[in-house]
Amino acid sequence: MRFDAMKMMMSLVVMLMIMLRHCNALSMHYYIMNCPMAEFIVRNSVNSALRADPTLAAGLIRMHFHDCFIQGCDASILLDSTDDSTAEKDSPANLSLRGYEVIDDAKEKLENQCPGVVSCADIVAMASREAVIFAGGPVYDIQKGRKDGTRSKIEDTRNLPSPFFNTSELIKMFGQKGFTVQDLVALSGGHTLGVARCSSFKNRLKNFDSTHDVDPSLDTQFTKTLTKTCASGDNAEQPFDATRNTFDNSYYWALQRQSGVLFSDQTLMSDPKTRNIVNMYAMNQAMFFLDFQRAMVKMGLLDVKETGQVRQNCRKLN
Ligand SMILES: *[C@@H]1O[C@H](CO)[C@@H](O)[C@H](O)[C@H]1NC(C)=O
Ligand SMILES: *[C@@H]1O[C@H](CO)[C@@H](O)[C@H](O)[C@H]1NC(C)=O
Repeated sequence: MRFDAMKMMMSLVVMLMIMLRHCNALSMHYYIMNCPMAEFIVRNSVNSALRADPTLAAGLIRMHFHDCFIQGCDASILLDSTDDSTAEKDSPANLSLRGYEVIDDAKEKLENQCPGVVSCADIVAMASREAVIFAGGPVYDIQKGRKDGTRSKIEDTRNLPSPFFNTSELIKMFGQKGFTVQDLVALSGGHTLGVARCSSFKNRLKNFDSTHDVDPSLDTQFTKTLTKTCASGDNAEQPFDATRNTFDNSYYWALQRQSGVLFSDQTLMSDPKTRNIVNMYAMNQAMFFLDFQRAMVKMGLLDVKETGQVRQNCRKLN
């Protein structure tokens, strides 16, 4: 009798171990057993923050992108610098990153509900998805189960695409991450939300000593708009399109009018491969939404870690 009970226990343990191993894989329902309210909690944190400040949506999407492009989607972007190491978030590429406190808020609530279960990398991915939805973009489901990384180095941020890249450089860098040209153009549409700073586009304008000319791909009237923005200094903000807090396809309309803010935006019109896709999204918002959500799901799976730690505090290693 005792022996049978032991045997049953043993086989139960083995079954459990197999199940747990299986649980390491990412899935849509990763937290269904251990933290069923996870998505709901993240949604609440994001929605209440965005109701107070809708401009944070762009920051949260940018955060996910920045996180995934460097070392994979492992919340390396959230780690603070330490005495002997400068983190990714302190690189000059951080200017448009905002919303760390939204992640902290969700994390705190999650730790109260289900301590040590929901990774910071998953919170970033979920928060970004909620931001897209809040701003009126496509509604889609994402896989969960990412684990948090342990490395965050300022020097790794040189692997981010630059606002000065031309189409071939963009296609190359996104291609190295497994993205198609269509993914590149769809993900660039994330610029339907948010702003760029003068420092990232002033090289396209005539400078004060007139040593170079205006970027010929820039519309004349829009050149005046950008010049006016830059009169307030390097940190002055220029919305990417006419509806900076609404997720729509008007970013592509701006490109058609030669009114893309960054060189890396407008360059998408210079090559037929990307221009045809821009024109398609400008005409068909549903197509943009579909391709954007597919590309976001793909981005959210870049080099994810299926084993590793779940940080207690997203800013620090355990
Ligand atoms: C960006 O980096 C600078 C240092 O280069 C740092 O002082 C600043 O706090 C960082 N900003 C954000 C939002 O992390
Ligand atoms: C894009 O930039 C690279 C690197 O600066 C350059 O070699 C290439 O010729 C450029 N391509 C186009 C189409 O301008």
